[in-house]
Amino acid sequence: MTPLTHTTSANTLLDVGNLRVRFKTPDGLVTAVNNLNFTLAQGETLGIVGESGSGKSQTAFALMGLLAKNGLIEGEARFEGSNILSLNDKAMNRIRSKDIAMIFQDPMTSLNPYMKVGQQLMEVLTLHKGMSKANAFDASVKMLDAVKMPEARKRMAMYPHEFSGGMRQRVMIAMALLCQPKLLIADEPTTALDVTVQAQILTLLNELKQDFNTAIVMITHDLGVVAGLCDKVLVMYAGQTMEYGTAEDVFYRPTHPYTQGLLKAIPRLDSEGSTLATIPGNPPNLLNLPTGCPFEARCEFARARCLTETPILNTFVSGQKSACHKSTEGWAV
Ligand SMILES: Nc1ncnc2c1ncn2[C@@H]1O[C@H](COP(=O)(O)OP(=O)(O)OP(=O)(O)O)[C@@H](O)[C@H]1O
Ligand SMILES: [Mg+2]
Repeated sequence: MTPLTHTTSANTLLDVGNLRVRFKTPDGLVTAVNNLNFTLAQGETLGIVGESGSGKSQTAFALMGLLAKNGLIEGEARFEGSNILSLNDKAMNRIRSKDIAMIFQDPMTSLNPYMKVGQQLMEVLTLHKGMSKANAFDASVKMLDAVKMPEARKRMAMYPHEFSGGMRQRVMIAMALLCQPKLLIADEPTTALDVTVQAQILTLLNELKQDFNTAIVMITHDLGVVAGLCDKVLVMYAGQTMEYGTAEDVFYRPTHPYTQGLLKAIPRLDSEGSTLATIPGNPPNLLNLPTGCPFEARCEFARARCLTETPILNTFVSGQKSACHKSTEGWAV
């Protein structure tokens, strides 16, 4: 496996630097994403993992130019060299769907319930690619076939409510891939689905990644989901990077107590009957982040220093990064 690097190389597709997202609220500024850095090469898959509220979706929305009106954004995100965070709506519209596509957490928020699925798919191609209706129809059927939609041609004439949850998610994936984007951001694409369908969708994403060489940012709260799909993993907590490394390093050699806790919380088929570990406590208030490590209150290894000093994101020789005083000091535990 190639070592993890933050230096931009020739095939770097996306380079996110010091990304910060804050929201103005009547109670003050909410820091949803705090100083995030990561890179993604063509065809590579990055998993962003963290509990609910850790800033995963807001990271995606910031990259897509879809932040809520009260959102403030800092930092940069270079896509093929140019900073997409500074683009105006018109320029960003051109990039969305064509170069960067997103699959949303809830497929019904992005499918129009009053339009036939086929019409919605075809519109992407006629609008963004200037395709004729006949060509757009053929290409849409082909893409529905590619996402393993049974009876694709027949389903073109059906409405979203006539599809099951898993099938709607396939439509979303098909729609996102129609223009063959270079980057696909998938925000919890399988959370609402049952385990069997979830596995099918993940297999499908894996195949599509190979067929189209699409780079993927896979957002999930479940480390198990990224295991078979991702090259790199970024573990987020309270808007910050706790750990970042190759999937192999993060899974087999996790250094951050938060990552270790998440890994212990993955249900395993071979340990039937044993109770599942959970991380006690709740994430900190994003309106008033603690001075020290954001994970301190829930960390079984916390020391006095963790309460007063924010750990910096240290890089190990392997390239793996971890924001924890323990991992850099080598405490005996
Ligand atoms: N418009 C907004 N105004 C104020 N706070 C917001 C706004 N949008 C999001 N937030 C806050 O930003 C934080 C991060 O939210 P985000 O949606 O990124 O979480 P997430 O990691 O995607 O969680 P989940 O797994 O539940 O989807 C949350 O605490 C949320 O309440
Ligand atoms: Mg989310």
